[in-house]
Amino acid sequence: MTWKATVLTLFPDMFPGPLGLSLAGKALVEGVWSLEATDLRDFAKNKHRSVDDTPAGGGAGMVMRVDIAAAAIDAAKAAAPAGSTAIYLSPRGTPLTQERVQALANGPGVILLCGRFEGLDQRVLDARDIEEVSIGDYVLSGGDLAAQVLIDACVRLLPGVLGNDGTLTEESFASGLLEYPHYTRPRDFEGHTIPDVLISGDHEKIAKWRREQAEAFTKSRRPDLWAKRGKA
Ligand code: ADE
Repeated sequence: MTWKATVLTLFPDMFPGPLGLSLAGKALVEGVWSLEATDLRDFAKNKHRSVDDTPAGGGAGMVMRVDIAAAAIDAAKAAAPAGSTAIYLSPRGTPLTQERVQALANGPGVILLCGRFEGLDQRVLDARDIEEVSIGDYVLSGGDLAAQVLIDACVRLLPGVLGNDGTLTEESFASGLLEYPHYTRPRDFEGHTIPDVLISGDHEKIAKWRREQAEAFTKSRRPDLWAKRGKA
């Protein structure tokens, strides 16, 4: 079955955006996955098509209305493959991990609610089964780019999207380690040479060297990942 991404957004023209190019774009054309970007304003109830209102309790900014967001989620759920996961992209969400991405890619698809404004009325999240996901500890101007990041990370894991499945098992995070460094010709670039072991032809030694490099990078750059190794 085709994996489906349903995006609920105020900026449907942002889609497919970069997802229409490269690997994801090719897979989209081939029907490995499908994309539906729906304008949240289609669910607005007044002639101005407004979807937000002032925050209860006062304060700056605007809040996306519960009735409009809930109607959009309900319509998306009715049209999406059964068992799709509904997600609200927000810096307050649970940080996205490769493990979660893999689980979402294994499922039938995702429904992604993209916020703009100060936020979303909390009651949408409480009244509907919606997971809150963050793509990192920084604030974007809206959830649309975060949705694209999540979709890209899932789509590349769908069967047949990446040519060489070995690249998936060797890459960063799949093993709990960051990736080892890569080299190709020329052998000497401004005095920086390719490590001798990589041109030795000794595959065992090469595998050992790569493992050591991956461990060294992980220890120095991601002590959090290093500490977690073997504990999962
Ligand atoms: N919307 C704004 N910032 C975000 C983030 N870091 N992750 C997910 N959605 C967001």
